[in-house]
Amino acid sequence: MLKKIYFGTNLKMYKTIKETKVFLDTLTDLTKDMNREDFELFVIPSYTSLPDAVKIENRGLVHLGAQNMGWEDEGQFTGEISPVMLKELALDLVMIGHSERRHVFGETDERENWKVLAARRHGFTALLCVGETGEEKENNISDEVLRTQLKVGFKDVPAERAFDGDTPKIWVAYEPVWAIGVGGKPASAEYAETKHQVIRDCLVELFGARGEELPVLYGGSVNPQNAEELIVRRNIDGLFVGRSAWDAEKFNDLIRLARKKAGR
Ligand code: PGA
Repeated sequence: MLKKIYFGTNLKMYKTIKETKVFLDTLTDLTKDMNREDFELFVIPSYTSLPDAVKIENRGLVHLGAQNMGWEDEGQFTGEISPVMLKELALDLVMIGHSERRHVFGETDERENWKVLAARRHGFTALLCVGETGEEKENNISDEVLRTQLKVGFKDVPAERAFDGDTPKIWVAYEPVWAIGVGGKPASAEYAETKHQVIRDCLVELFGARGEELPVLYGGSVNPQNAEELIVRRNIDGLFVGRSAWDAEKFNDLIRLARKKAGR
């Protein structure tokens, strides 16, 4: 079987409930001919959109996730949403440690670890985002930063918890902070591949040989111009797209372009 490739988008603090539903209906309809056996599509909308999002007609064609999650099941944590609450929605995925959570809201590696543990305890796939800042890159400590984020982020996750049978339940997104969002500069495919190799080696160190099977996605100013050169790299298993994905037609075009380049 061909290696799976992954395409997903985080809608951040964009799109109302209605806009999210239209986006999901359009995207799943446009991509419904694509064989899901070697292709995973995921969308991570706002919390308020999730109850309607899980009811879309083509629910089976897309994984849906939350942008963040509290680490306790319940308690005095005003403003947080617990894993138990997200389970009520029958979600597949929880994103943890997006760059904006780390750098706008001050989340630490230790807290991301608590969330990863909670996500796996409750059966969610944990999508951990890692990435160095521009300053860390300048100081030549990117590899150390990535290894720290992974080693602390996945602390106490046993190798068997990284999978459910053959299904990887831990996904990693490499998103260099300097590459993300308006004003971000996309990483070159060569640069991204070297960092994906660092991540891959660290995953093998943490989870043994099966670390090779965990998907590592690239994110940060992915666009129709760079999607093809990124997706063909050996250690890049998928693309995690922001702005270039928020129009369903454009996202469908980008996915088709990249899939074709990857021989699908
Ligand atoms: P971008 O966002 O593609 O708009 O740079 C990426 C992200 O934040 O995940």
